[in-house]
Amino acid sequence: MKFDIVTIFPRMFEAPLGEGVVARGIEAGVVDVAVHDLREFTTDRHRVVDDVPYGGGPGMVMKPEPFVRAVDHIRATRGEPAAVVLTSPQGRRLMQADVERLAGLGHLVVLCGRYEGIDDRVREHVATEEISIGDYVLSGGELAALVIVDAVARLVPGVVGDTRSVEAESFTRGLLDYPHFTRPAAFQGWAVPEVLLSGHHGEIERWRRREAVRRTLAHRPDLVDVARLDPVERAMYDELKERATSVAPKHEGAGAPIEGADHERD
Ligand code: ADE
Repeated sequence: MKFDIVTIFPRMFEAPLGEGVVARGIEAGVVDVAVHDLREFTTDRHRVVDDVPYGGGPGMVMKPEPFVRAVDHIRATRGEPAAVVLTSPQGRRLMQADVERLAGLGHLVVLCGRYEGIDDRVREHVATEEISIGDYVLSGGELAALVIVDAVARLVPGVVGDTRSVEAESFTRGLLDYPHFTRPAAFQGWAVPEVLLSGHHGEIERWRRREAVRRTLAHRPDLVDVARLDPVERAMYDELKERATSVAPKHEGAGAPIEGADHERD
């Protein structure tokens, strides 16, 4: 998996790409990340990357030409990318399904915006898609680019040691993860759920699936894709939903959280 990042802050990428799972992928030779300094693609003495907005208004706008030259340079030296992603709060919100799609593309360019924005011709003529990592405004696209690289790289075979932890992820099916525990079994009076100590693999599996469904209903009911639940999860979903509507105080509107559900123990 090849990534090319275009930024005015290349040093922002050093530590995040030098540690952890992404660094392991780079070391193993299955992930290749090149960070390009946008200022290298200016032609003036002062290496200016921004200018005042046409039509007036506050702030500066990033000029189009350095981005175009940067992407041309990437094409010539690193090959034709499958997608050119522009990070921006105006983009489509990134979901795990997008991460999976991007991981299948093989070569991504990520353009990081700064200041008040980028000249819109970059979005229109250079980028193939515009992605937001959430409904909040960052001071620039660098952190968003790192989020994309991290989420995509960990899906590349050979990056995460035990592929089961990627494959079994319930998020992919619209469910949050189940809770995890390790030793000690009791600590400051906080006990690990009994079932996990029982050694009954069937019961443990069932408890985990039910917890995943329960947590999703309690925290992110919007995520649940009922059609993708298997019959066992569907039965758990129906039972938990029925229970919640019969005991929880009534809330206005749909999607109200299931009160206290996160502390429930069977
Ligand atoms: N740049 C600024 N805010 C952003 C966001 N939420 N997602 C992606 N890029 C951004």
